[in-house]
Amino acid sequence: MQGSGPVLFFDSGLGGLTVLREARYLLPYEPLLYVADDAAFPIGRWPEAELKERIVSLFDDLIAEHGPKSVVIACNTAFTLAGDALRERHPDVPFVGTVPAIKPAAERTSSGLISVLATPGTVRRTYTRSLIESFASQCHVRLVGSDKLAELAEKHLRGDTVSDADLLPEISDCFLEQDGKRTDIVVLACTHYPFLANRFRRIAPWPVDWLDPAEAIARQLVRVLGEGAASEPSRHLPDRAIFTSGTKDAGVSRLLAGFGLVLD
Ligand code: DGL
Repeated sequence: MQGSGPVLFFDSGLGGLTVLREARYLLPYEPLLYVADDAAFPIGRWPEAELKERIVSLFDDLIAEHGPKSVVIACNTAFTLAGDALRERHPDVPFVGTVPAIKPAAERTSSGLISVLATPGTVRRTYTRSLIESFASQCHVRLVGSDKLAELAEKHLRGDTVSDADLLPEISDCFLEQDGKRTDIVVLACTHYPFLANRFRRIAPWPVDWLDPAEAIARQLVRVLGEGAASEPSRHLPDRAIFTSGTKDAGVSRLLAGFGLVLD
């Protein structure tokens, strides 16, 4: 049931921080809790049935333990699979989801050629296919599943070397030239990828709009909280981050501190 606890953000790793940072900006007084199921990372390769079961059972515990005011599933791979089941199981909890930004891309494209860069799981989902049918049937949508980018984004964030040669093969299928037209929008349909967007811009064969839905998700959270959003500072303690692996890695702690989070 809806609680009076913090707004809970969920991802498989560090990617959901791209959404949390936008929410912190729009809701500066809101207590936040970040949960990463990093014991399962990367989830883009998991078989659907097992992954769904894992997420649903994890949320039974998280909701019972933290009584969140709202939950932001800051992960396309998780939400496109388990979003409906979570809403059904916890009808009193307001969930905010993350889905590939196919609708805004279809509204903005000039060439009609859009690519969706995502995990292999998100690319396979029925949810993703039906977004294309409902909102982008007039466009040519190319789905590009990357097996490696979420891990490369985490390496990059931790300060390890990620070369252009590692990244280029993962994005090159996004660029399509057809009948004198070129792809003009690439949807970043994994919350890890915006951390690499500046690298993508530098190595892209031509300029495109790299569509990051983080701000739109944070705005949706503001709408969902409505009057219930915290409007003044509270005696609330530092916002916490919980990692299911139980990591105490100093580099991860430092990184989280930059997002205003203390690793539990
Ligand atoms: N950040 C996740 C997403 O938005 C996926 C990362 C993973 O493969 O675990 O899809």
